[in-house]
Amino acid sequence: MGTIILGTGSCLPSRVMSNVELESIVDTSDEWIRTRTGIENRRIGGTGEKTYQLAASAARNALEMAQVDAEEIKLLVVGTVSSHMLMPSCACYVQNEIGAASAFAYDLNAACCGFLYGLDAGDRYVRTDTQSKVLIIGAETLSSRVNWQDRNTCILFGDGAGAAVLGHSDNSERKIIGTNHRSDGGLWDLLYMHNAPSQNPDLLVEDNPGAHIIMEGREIFKHAVKAMEEAIFGLFKKTGLSIDDVDVMIPHQANFRILNKLLERLEIPREKVVLNVMHYGNTSAASIPLGYWDNRGKFEPGTSRIEIDVAFGAGFASGAILRRVG
Ligand code: UT7
Repeated sequence: MGTIILGTGSCLPSRVMSNVELESIVDTSDEWIRTRTGIENRRIGGTGEKTYQLAASAARNALEMAQVDAEEIKLLVVGTVSSHMLMPSCACYVQNEIGAASAFAYDLNAACCGFLYGLDAGDRYVRTDTQSKVLIIGAETLSSRVNWQDRNTCILFGDGAGAAVLGHSDNSERKIIGTNHRSDGGLWDLLYMHNAPSQNPDLLVEDNPGAHIIMEGREIFKHAVKAMEEAIFGLFKKTGLSIDDVDVMIPHQANFRILNKLLERLEIPREKVVLNVMHYGNTSAASIPLGYWDNRGKFEPGTSRIEIDVAFGAGFASGAILRRVG
């Protein structure tokens, strides 16, 4: 008995921005971006492609695959740091768009771990209310949150959304096997984004340059590999499984170099790892469910396998989830 993913979905903005196009915006080059990050293109949201609109579209795909009606959804969570409004939540907009009238809905701010932590919350919800269906979404339009004059950050991020519908299964084999997450607030200043300036003069934050991403790339690099490795090995310890049991790894897609280092340390063959950062850039909370979507159809239906999701991001948040599927 446990929680299973009944269906997945994705939505990407139609506009593709290449590294070459970025050369005309900031002092960079296709060659620099490819060799330092592996990114070749990213998607950029346009009219009708706000975060909640991408999220709603991904949700509709996931509901269709799951053959679940929107009205059956009891909990709707959107992992995001780039909703078009601070209040109400992006999740409430999505609820309205898709007609999930019976749901309660909220956003989850865990940056690039937003989808993973949402999956954890959804798993626990389904296990305590086995009749319920849950919709977890990761959706971002970080193009609206980067400083387009800052070459350190604007080349990295992209927009998109991915979704998963969760439900209960009586099958003791197929389920979310375990989760292992950790946040380290002491490292908050490696990656952050201010709010709009305070309306209360006494609560003004000094040096607030606006609501865009500020990042210490090199430091993040070091912590990212270590945090993901610890999340995975901690999870193996909890579950009694090992890297040899894993058939598919879906990591947060931030950077090829970070991922290569992680794969080296884990000694996991590259063929087992879903990689799409070259097409979409870093889509933060959307990157893991976009990975699910890109991996769909790779196995015959019913093929039993173990998949692991792993992520890191601002916070400094990290985590991993093991799932048996098929
Ligand atoms: O979800 C989490 C999000 N964040 C991350 O995943 C970031 C993790 N960090 C990284 O991926 C890498 O640190 C970066 C790709 C961001 C940068 O690579 P790096 O090898 O750490 O480069 P660096 O920041 O040490 O910069 C090296 C040089 C600098 O020039 P100088 O000082 O050596 O003359 C930078 O100014 O590269 C320069 N540089 C660029 N040059 C061309 C920085 N950004 C660019 C750019 N194009 N876009």
